[in-house]
Amino acid sequence: MRKRIVAGNWKMNTNIEQAVKLALDIKAQYKGSEVDVVLCPPFTNLYAVHRVIQDTTIKLGAQDLYWKDGGAYTGQISAGMLTSVGCQFVIIGHSERRQFFGETDESVNKKIKKALDYHLTPIVCVGEWLEQREANETETVVARQIRGALAGLDADDVAKLVIAYEPVWAIGTGKVATPAQAQDVHRFIRTLLAEMSGEATADGIRIQYGGSMKPDNAAELLAQPDIDGGLIGGASLKADSFLGIVNA
Ligand code: 13P
Repeated sequence: MRKRIVAGNWKMNTNIEQAVKLALDIKAQYKGSEVDVVLCPPFTNLYAVHRVIQDTTIKLGAQDLYWKDGGAYTGQISAGMLTSVGCQFVIIGHSERRQFFGETDESVNKKIKKALDYHLTPIVCVGEWLEQREANETETVVARQIRGALAGLDADDVAKLVIAYEPVWAIGTGKVATPAQAQDVHRFIRTLLAEMSGEATADGIRIQYGGSMKPDNAAELLAQPDIDGGLIGGASLKADSFLGIVNA
């Protein structure tokens, strides 16, 4: 049985005060659960949020990393920096990074390898654009992203990943994928992973859904057999809506 995982991607939201308050609110209202709960604030707020949640089971994740260990890479953040402030997870290949910051399947692959070197759990994001869905290219696009992201990884490494399926047309739009639409792609991803890394690995890997997930649509999405959690944007910025999804 796969343990569910719900992660809040705060994106470029919260200053230090807002981040600490949000983490404190979540901590105060969190009653514990069977689910892995992960908060992914902006880099500048990681350590402060770590201090708030370090005595709980809530875990910390970053929103990106660079694949070098260190050196003259102005503005970049390394895996070692992330572990040093308490991160256990890191989001890699979010569609916003692909769209606005030149992320490619190749850079995603390098980042995953570096994260694994540092025992960070990558949350690897894939998903199609609306035009691609309308052109019936969803599976082609997602397969290309998965194959590119996982190139050169053996089954033991693949088993350590979390995959997030985030259809781009559902992100921040209020247009959530139907449970059946999401389930279809999740099943497709699991079948692909089975081909690439074997049944056992594919069965164990957790695949989150992301895209306008809210407390009122979470339960039916999470009831699907291949949906193992959520990667939450907007609804993760308030303790009650985030925990509403955790408890769904
Ligand atoms: P929303 O929940 O705001 O649609 O964002 C989803 C997302 O991109 C999480 O990474």
